[in-house]
Amino acid sequence: MFRETLTVTDNRTGSSYELPIEQGTVKALDLRQIKVGDNDFGLMSYDPGLTNTASAKSAITFIDGDQGILRYRGYPIEQLAAHSSYLETAYLLIFGDLPDPAQLAGWVRDVGRHTMLHTNIQHLIETFRYNAHPMSVFISATASLSTLYPDARRIADPANRLLQVERMIAKAATIAAFTYRHNQGWPCNFPDDSLSFIGNFLRMMFRMTEQRYLPNPVLERAVNILFILHADHEQNCGTNAMRVIGSSQADPYSALAGAAAALYGPLHGAANEAVLNMLEQIGSPANVPAFLERVKRGEGERLMGFGHRVYKNYDPRCRIIKRTAEEVFEVTGRNPLLDVALELERIALQDDYFVSRKLYPNVDFYSGLIYRAMKLPASMFTVMFAVPRTCGWVAHWLELVADPEQKISRPRQIYTGSEAERAPGRG
Ligand code: CMC
Repeated sequence: MFRETLTVTDNRTGSSYELPIEQGTVKALDLRQIKVGDNDFGLMSYDPGLTNTASAKSAITFIDGDQGILRYRGYPIEQLAAHSSYLETAYLLIFGDLPDPAQLAGWVRDVGRHTMLHTNIQHLIETFRYNAHPMSVFISATASLSTLYPDARRIADPANRLLQVERMIAKAATIAAFTYRHNQGWPCNFPDDSLSFIGNFLRMMFRMTEQRYLPNPVLERAVNILFILHADHEQNCGTNAMRVIGSSQADPYSALAGAAAALYGPLHGAANEAVLNMLEQIGSPANVPAFLERVKRGEGERLMGFGHRVYKNYDPRCRIIKRTAEEVFEVTGRNPLLDVALELERIALQDDYFVSRKLYPNVDFYSGLIYRAMKLPASMFTVMFAVPRTCGWVAHWLELVADPEQKISRPRQIYTGSEAERAPGRG
């Protein structure tokens, strides 16, 4: 008869310990009983980057990185991308089930009501230099929301939490659009609730002199798909930041700004911007082999948009985005950089360096080409990621706040400094 336990023998002392295994994990705190003497603190685990540490129990998103499977609340990403709207997907992530028509109508109305942005935030955005990086502006503006909604600190009240969640999902889109307009030197477009959430977002971004702006349906559908694909990805760096900050019971706007700041790094959400810069730098398919050789020799940057901590197979989001890009190009014209991207993918997937390390294109590899086709500057790409990821962040924040097992996030360290007490002036 097998037991769901792990027996560990400490060879320093010869003692054995039986640790319970639950859901494929041992509790790190169970290691603490393993000591060489009474004064010993006890064993800890060392895991920089938390590569093999579960920091939460979560029912939101399932990823099987080896099989290339991604599901939100049990629904395959392919189905949601084909049949859902972004707000419907946000509802699913937050409430756990797809809404019925009445629930969806209520949710769209409730979120839509919050798309207006206080003029203080608009003025704040306009205070930044025209060429400030849009992600820096987005982070600052989301953090500033906490100055307008001090009620957000009452995180113990579920109704209050939901109000903040609706605000965050709605205002993230408006902040992104106003940031873009300021970046371009154009006046802001205020929300129009006669359009869908995505249609209104595109209108706030792109309306120029038209009396009645109607989004191109192919582009609206593409952004809807991209937003669904970016909505959540379990415990990634940004979501972890949201949870870490949220664990101190800070207000959710502050946590949201922290999550967005984590997303801004090129190893995370700014990879889409880095991909486009890389494709432009490579310039033509003929230059791809030499570029890949430099990547393999470790000269310069990595192959951006390739590799993933979790996926050791094709990122399922990338497959959908690649198809969507073709649809968008039929409207906007084909971006020649697509040929560079296709050649990079073709050669890398045959090259032992990438194959042996299981490096496949990820969500960021083709998404930038779609946004570039919509004439967005590369610096806006990560903002286009942050807007939909907001609903994933808030879903995790709600889960965290309601989880009785969660505590303030406070890891341990291995101290490597001076063991002896030092005194000033004695070297
Ligand atoms: N190009 C070249 N080599 C790579 C790449 C890459 N893109 N990614 C990983 N490697 C190599 C790496 O050098 C290492 O090789 P070795 O074993 O010889 O030292 C091996 O593969 C494992 O890499 P790692 O850095 O230990 O893997 P990780 O799980 O810590 O990093 C990653 C994951 C996404 C940060 C990394 O693959 C990467 O830097 N990719 C490029 C940036 C990128 O596209 N990021 C977006 C990720 S998906 C969306 C998101 O998270 O927002």
